[in-house]
Amino acid sequence: MKPELVTDPAAWQARCASARDGGAHIAFVPTMGFLHEGHLSLMREARRRADAGGGARGLAVASIFVNPTQFGPNEDLSRYPRDLEGDVAKCGEAGIDWILSPSAPELVFPPAHQTWIDVTGVSQGLCGEKRPGHFRGVATVVAKFLNMTRPHAALFGMKDYQQLQVLRTMVRDLSMGVEVVGMPIVREPDGLALSSRNAYLSKEERERALALSRALFAARDRAGAGQRDAADLRAGIERELALGADRIDYVEIVHPDTLAPVARAEHGSMALVAAYVGRTRLIDNVQLP
Ligand code: PAJ
Repeated sequence: MKPELVTDPAAWQARCASARDGGAHIAFVPTMGFLHEGHLSLMREARRRADAGGGARGLAVASIFVNPTQFGPNEDLSRYPRDLEGDVAKCGEAGIDWILSPSAPELVFPPAHQTWIDVTGVSQGLCGEKRPGHFRGVATVVAKFLNMTRPHAALFGMKDYQQLQVLRTMVRDLSMGVEVVGMPIVREPDGLALSSRNAYLSKEERERALALSRALFAARDRAGAGQRDAADLRAGIERELALGADRIDYVEIVHPDTLAPVARAEHGSMALVAAYVGRTRLIDNVQLP
């Protein structure tokens, strides 16, 4: 079924409130659009959870909003890929009922907006250090959308692992009363993590972008074979990354909850990378065995 597109955030809030009052179980997937299988895996799980919620028919809902407040001044806001029509069709196939797609950024962040959410600890380091203000923009827009939607569950991908931990922390610390669900990374058959930004890659860059997943998988294998020294694992990742990436932003082995760097990789430690291929900044991660 074709989902209903709602462009006015106030109308969205009223609709969601009345659905919830009517007993609907609501599962929500926030996105910036240009949807791919990674997003769609979240949406299918939202459909499943909405239907499993009991009571009135469940509601699986999504937002498509390229959030200007999470882009730095020299980042790709103006060229971020968009395809609303294609996205609506994909949402429909994934079982989404309603889509919030604000018709102007000012409807979400009017000039009078002056409240910002700063998650401290887990926002520092990694992307937080390389993209100052990024997680403040993410946390604020997600908090706003959660308040407008008041879902029972909100689904996020582990592809953006630090983002997931920042949002988990925000929801816990502010008692937002929504279940945060983390979903596995969806990859191309050759290993590349799906990302809307992959659309920026030339054919040659697309080939070199494989260095990220290759480096991480190799580290996972080495950790599995008993190499636990984080400095050694990082050096191995950097060597492999350098074969394809033009510039490494970071390579870290961290605790899965606190995201603090570890000296020895334990079961569950995360290896995370960010690197540029051409002008495109890509991120990826794996959990170590
Ligand atoms: P966006 O990059 O569009 O991603 C929306 C959701 O899809 C995020 O939870 C992200 O982790 C997930 N996702 C992206 N690629 C994935 C993949 N290959 N496998 C699994 N999940 C994947 O992340 C954002 O938008 C924004 O920061 C947002 C949370 C919407 C706030 O503006």
